[in-house]
Amino acid sequence: MTDVVLNEHGRIRRADAYGVSHYPVVLREPLIALKMMRETGLRATLGHIRIIALIRLLNRFDDNARMRAFPARLSDATNASADQARIADPQELAEAVHCAPIPATALTWTLGALDLDPRAHHFVDVGSGWGYALGIAAQYPFRKLTGIEFAGEFHKMACTNMDALAAAGSLDRTRVELRHESALESELPQEPLVLLLANPFGPAVMRPFIERVAQSHRDNPRPITVIYVNPKHADLFERSDVEELALKGTDAWKLRLFGPYAVRAYRWR
Ligand SMILES: C[S@@+](CC[C@H](N)C(=O)[O-])C[C@H]1O[C@@H](n2cnc3c(N)ncnc32)[C@H](O)[C@@H]1O
Repeated sequence: MTDVVLNEHGRIRRADAYGVSHYPVVLREPLIALKMMRETGLRATLGHIRIIALIRLLNRFDDNARMRAFPARLSDATNASADQARIADPQELAEAVHCAPIPATALTWTLGALDLDPRAHHFVDVGSGWGYALGIAAQYPFRKLTGIEFAGEFHKMACTNMDALAAAGSLDRTRVELRHESALESELPQEPLVLLLANPFGPAVMRPFIERVAQSHRDNPRPITVIYVNPKHADLFERSDVEELALKGTDAWKLRLFGPYAVRAYRWR
């Protein structure tokens, strides 16, 4: 994750955007912090430093080893290229958050903090990138797993990675479906769902996406749980048909203390 910084919207942009790439590596972070402080103030800068420090720590002690099992991966947060993207609405490209996987612990601690039986649910990663979160979720006995990714290049990487994990005996490939589709077009599976939203898009896409989930629930009422990591648009889930779930137990504490991002969970009533 070197040279990747978060802006105030939780979007990830390259250090070049701060004009520091020509400085020696050790000077870049302090210079970015100074520039950020001027742009966004002390509080936002300290929040940013905490996020980056925890991501580095978790990467070092956990994700770097796990990622070795994924042959196709990006070393940097990267944008979807328009020519390979499948979109239903022109706003989807502008609203997309760059492809950067969440630390595995953000997902494992959240699943541990929720009262949820994986055997009864289909796990769907909405904005599945190169398949890291899917590969982690596949270690749990979910009925099935589906990744929805609108960017062709990331979808292909996810296919390579799931095939590699299957070849290594770490997952059953028949349980995992990868769709090169827009989140605004992909049909939600007709069974109890866990939807992972790792801050994939901005409000102009999140709003119609939530409406699609609501419609799918009205058509076929069934348990639908949403895990929203780095919940930049949590206000959109404040609706009468959705309740927020409490994250409980030791894993909830681990998430609060060591999780780089806030995590919220919701359930359709
Ligand atoms: C922050 S990444 C999450 C990666 C993945 N969930 C993980 O943790 O390993 C967000 C992903 O959402 C994808 N995305 C953004 N907008 C989308 C849309 N409208 N439909 C489908 N995928 C989208 C991006 O291309 C990017 O790969």
